[in-house]
Amino acid sequence: MRPKVTIVGSINMDLLTSTDQFPSQGETIRGTDFQTAPGGKGANQAVAAARLGADVQMIGCVGADSFGEELKGHLKNESVDTTHIQTIEHEPSGLANIILSEKDNRIIIIPGANGHVTPEYVEARKDAILSSDYVVIQFEIPKQTIEYCIDLCHQHDIPLIINPAPAMELDTSYWEKATYITPNDTEASQLFSDEMHHLNEKLIITMGAEGVQFSENLEEKMVSSHEVEVVDTTGAGDTFNGALAVALAEKLDLKEAIAFANAAAALSITKLGAQQGMPTKKEVFELLTKTKDKKD
Ligand code: RIB
Ligand code: NA
Repeated sequence: MRPKVTIVGSINMDLLTSTDQFPSQGETIRGTDFQTAPGGKGANQAVAAARLGADVQMIGCVGADSFGEELKGHLKNESVDTTHIQTIEHEPSGLANIILSEKDNRIIIIPGANGHVTPEYVEARKDAILSSDYVVIQFEIPKQTIEYCIDLCHQHDIPLIINPAPAMELDTSYWEKATYITPNDTEASQLFSDEMHHLNEKLIITMGAEGVQFSENLEEKMVSSHEVEVVDTTGAGDTFNGALAVALAEKLDLKEAIAFANAAAALSITKLGAQQGMPTKKEVFELLTKTKDKKD
């Protein structure tokens, strides 16, 4: 049976500007390429999970503009259930200005309609959450909504991944209610101090080329990264989270689930754009087998 994954989060149009270098203050430079591409951490995670074979419901909002229609249509095409995506009048769709250079990206987001994903909005759709095998949230929606989702999942024993991106502090009691928390290394150092070691078994820290760090039975462990050609790392974390939710919902053990998600993320960075390059399950298993063969 296909696992049911629900994503509560952001939907953005990504405005991708490629350049050889970044302009300095007051400087104008000529870039090398421009594209629009569907993005938003929530939507990215939804597409990743859907491509990997889950039944995905997305709870989010788009604006009453052409981007909004395009973004919703795109999610539908990716077999994401868009019943719980509302179009908000007089609000623009969420936007991400992404400046991409060879090994770096810088992003400015304008939340727009994502600000309408309020606790009340989610509460009105809570049946979707309560019927899920796994729920994933990220931090591009209002803080109260994040807290509401954490409490709701906790009260009803629904497994929850908190992807704290971009970083935002939460009261410790909220982190404690997560099944897993998936910061990247920067977010981890911003949000979690050594005194919070009681959270260690919940923390899965993605460290780019260094791999993924986690703890199991009081032991610190690593899953190493794959060598792939890096084109665009935007959305790698989202692919990881969508894939992790699918693998955990399918009851893979923790290390296997992390290895699966890590391979999915590796494949995603070989193409430009957050969602282009997100793999199917078959492609993930092919990469995992290839790496295993190399090791043997
Ligand atoms: O994680 C990548 C995403 O962050 C982009 O798609 C962009 O929309 C920003 O939200
Ligand atoms: Na990509």
